[in-house]
Amino acid sequence: MQNGKATGCKVDRLVNVLLSHRGIFLNQEKFLKKLEISSKGLLRLFSQVRQEGLCLEEVTGRGWRLKRLPDWLLGSMVQPHLRSTYFGQRIHHYFRVGSTNEIAHQLALEGVPEGTVVVAEEQIHGRGRLGRSWLSQKGRDIILSLVLRPSLSPCEVSCLNLVVGLAASKAIRAVSGLATDLKWPNDVLVRKKKCCGILTEMNAQSDHVDYLIVGLGINVNGISVPKVIADKASTLRRESGRLLPRNILVAEFLYYLESLYLNFLRNGMQALLDDWIENSSYATGKQVKIQQLGRCVQGITMGLNRQGVLFIRRVDGQIEKVMTGDLVQW
Ligand code: BTN
Repeated sequence: MQNGKATGCKVDRLVNVLLSHRGIFLNQEKFLKKLEISSKGLLRLFSQVRQEGLCLEEVTGRGWRLKRLPDWLLGSMVQPHLRSTYFGQRIHHYFRVGSTNEIAHQLALEGVPEGTVVVAEEQIHGRGRLGRSWLSQKGRDIILSLVLRPSLSPCEVSCLNLVVGLAASKAIRAVSGLATDLKWPNDVLVRKKKCCGILTEMNAQSDHVDYLIVGLGINVNGISVPKVIADKASTLRRESGRLLPRNILVAEFLYYLESLYLNFLRNGMQALLDDWIENSSYATGKQVKIQQLGRCVQGITMGLNRQGVLFIRRVDGQIEKVMTGDLVQW
């Protein structure tokens, strides 16, 4: 599918107006003035938001007021919760996309600043690691891509992957209260089931990165996950028994990532390694299999170094350095 159309600031403004007049009816004249829009435009806007699930109560002679606002991830619903200084200052919201990573690539090529975020309520062709696809539930999960422009060489990017996983893990723990576990390189598990995946894509020259797209998928408020992945994946709602505020989770992720990212750029992975290891039961002493293209490394994990390389002691006693792959416990 083609990538959808950005939601546009009119929806954001309408939501702001409705939220700041909760319980109060506003007539057409007031809406037109506040939104600086034509009456035709207003009706079109009402019809668009209603189609996406917003409920307006209409009373002849009095006007409209908000009845139900879905848990969208519009800028006006995320930004009041931001604790980051520049990540998330610009949020491009979509109701429907092919892939948010793809949109973020286009925006990055157009020159948007670092920290720009793309979020979607629904993603039709979500991309996962190792060429897999990523499934998300409309309006229930977090589907987000972030543009980064670090001064790094391409070989330093694998560490950044670990940093993003650590930020996601901290945000999930802070908002849900669940114990999280990082599975190398950056899956976030709850009770051994994957609830969050990260796909970092880069546009680089041989010696420097032009930009990075960090793609984050979190299974948040779905009751269950598709049957095909039910044995290894779950949702935060399923694990915690409650609905979680997606907007706060997005804001917290941006907060943790911004602070870890700046620390990483200033001080390198060494400064974050202990934190990462403390948050991962997979870093040492786990019997694992790492599936790589065309081969499989099997053994016990022996920690990571500051390049983000995972050490595996094979059955023959040899230590193998692993940089990429898919880790499974056995
Ligand atoms: C994984 O396979 O574990 C990584 C999954 C990453 C999914 C996210 S959802 C938002 C962003 N857009 C995409 O198409 N993929 C990433």
